[in-house]
Amino acid sequence: MNNLRTIVETTLVPHTAFEDATQRLEQCFAYASGASEPICIALVGESRTGKSRVLEECFSRHPRIRNANGLNTPILRVKTPSKPTVKSLAELMLRALGDPKAHTGSENTKTARLLTLMVESGVMMVMIDEFQHFYDKGSHKVMHHVADWLKILVDDARVALVVAGLPTCRAVIEQNEQLAGRFLSPVYMPRFNWQDIDQREEFIAILGAFQESIGQCFDLPRFTGDEMAFRFYCGTGGLIGYLSKFLRQAVWNAIDANSKSIDLSSLLRAHSQSIWAQDGPTGLPSPFDRRFSTEVTDDLLARINKIGVPADEVRIPRNRAARQTGELGVQAVLTAR
Ligand SMILES: Nc1ncnc2c1ncn2[C@@H]1O[C@H](COP(=O)(O)OP(=O)(O)O)[C@@H](O)[C@H]1O
Ligand SMILES: [Mg+2]
Repeated sequence: MNNLRTIVETTLVPHTAFEDATQRLEQCFAYASGASEPICIALVGESRTGKSRVLEECFSRHPRIRNANGLNTPILRVKTPSKPTVKSLAELMLRALGDPKAHTGSENTKTARLLTLMVESGVMMVMIDEFQHFYDKGSHKVMHHVADWLKILVDDARVALVVAGLPTCRAVIEQNEQLAGRFLSPVYMPRFNWQDIDQREEFIAILGAFQESIGQCFDLPRFTGDEMAFRFYCGTGGLIGYLSKFLRQAVWNAIDANSKSIDLSSLLRAHSQSIWAQDGPTGLPSPFDRRFSTEVTDDLLARINKIGVPADEVRIPRNRAARQTGELGVQAVLTAR
């Protein structure tokens, strides 16, 4: 039963953007040693586009190994705390390298210990996820002190640096001349857009890949037919993270019901349990509901594009907001600026 439960999470879809991103990271890794200055790269995209999964994939291709010199850690991977300081970030990195006294010492002693440990552990690449936390959205300020510290750390340790984060994280790089000079152009992880034929096909291929893997254990309707694929698109905003969350729910429900099949009504149920709320940003019934019209209109696509965007970023022009109060639902209108 265990592998049934995790069938969605363990499915890895090597779509084009995923493969491109992985390959760019692998190239940085391969050329890190011997480079005259550190190679830095940013992986940028909205929430749930698959950035962390790319990091994870690259990380798992270069696992820790124990050799004659002790534990070798080719990639040091951490997640930025919500308000990063030099001390907190250094502590996380020390802990990731197995330092039992990660929490002790001043900024300087932690940094010195970290550098020594990075060299001893054979670290070739540092990965920093959730890099947008280096930018304070409230005050619109970059945390320059910790950004400068990171630059010096990768300079001194002569390692490659990969950062991943929401689009706001670009400010951290752009506002720091020295960091900007070291970064290659960013890699973008997209949300798939139905109006772009290539991206639409890519999204449908992803549906096909999930269908194939889940279909090994459950009877499914065909995900990739035009109308069904469009329902999936509308139900997930073209975000792979929402798609996987929704399919995972459908699988859990089928397991709990002792059922070997997932039909349209189970998709509807799983969808409303996992991601859809009619008073959410689209204000529409679920695309798996019979009341949903699958006619492709600009208005529908515009609404679907808001899926996954934090409510405070959903903006509606004032005159339209007044007219659409009923249709769009309370949440979107209350937060529209
Ligand atoms: N290429 C992929 N194949 C299968 N599942 C994926 C893929 N990319 C992302 N996912 C799944 O989507 C969800 C969100 O991905 P994640 O990497 O956490 O997004 P982000 O870091 O951009 O917010 C995760 O559950 C992840 O496993
Ligand atoms: Mg992530």
